[in-house]
Amino acid sequence: MKTLEQRILQEGKAINRDVLKVDMFLNHQVDVKLMYEIGAEFKRLFEDKGITRVVTIEASGIAPAAMTALQMDLPLVILKKSHSVILSTGTIQTEVYSFTKQSTYNLTLNSAYIKTGDRVLLIDDFLANGEAALGASRLIEQAGAKVAGIGIVICKSFQPGLKKLREMGYAVEPLANIAEMDKDFVRFVKE
Ligand code: G4P
Repeated sequence: MKTLEQRILQEGKAINRDVLKVDMFLNHQVDVKLMYEIGAEFKRLFEDKGITRVVTIEASGIAPAAMTALQMDLPLVILKKSHSVILSTGTIQTEVYSFTKQSTYNLTLNSAYIKTGDRVLLIDDFLANGEAALGASRLIEQAGAKVAGIGIVICKSFQPGLKKLREMGYAVEPLANIAEMDKDFVRFVKE
């Protein structure tokens, strides 16, 4: 998605070879018009997949996922990163390890919000090692639904997540796919 790539080049800051800061339009301040365009692009990419529900992970996945759900006229479900060990009825959890943050958290879903037979479009802001997307997919499948697509705003394809998810058979579509970056440059994968 050209507009997104341009915003990354103009405003993003690679703080090292691994981490890109995009606080000014995605992770802290949010450019909702850009999110609306992102929603339209995800709709275009996934509209033939029979999607019935959009799912994301709090917090930074919410803006692009909400706009995608709006564009596709579908319900949105937000998976919680709960530290609670007290589970209410119908709540399912899975443990996710974050390599970036070097910590573990519990991803939580109340299965009332995802039905057996749902075809889910999973949306997230970043794809790095793929652990969050894998954890979310485990929960969605445990609830009896199918992950019919995974839409990623910014993918760092030099990290293992994209390859891992595609090898597992998931249809993953990144809108900006970074091949390589460092303090003074970002290079995208050529289509
Ligand atoms: P993974 O799910 O692909 O394995 O990624 P990982 O655990 O390594 O990433 C953990 C958190 O760091 C996620 O946010 C992810 O979005 C974010 N992240 C990963 N790489 C980058 C990057 O290059 N730049 C930025 N800005 N964020 C990155 P999170 O903890 O879920 O945070 P939030 O959604 O609550 O904001």
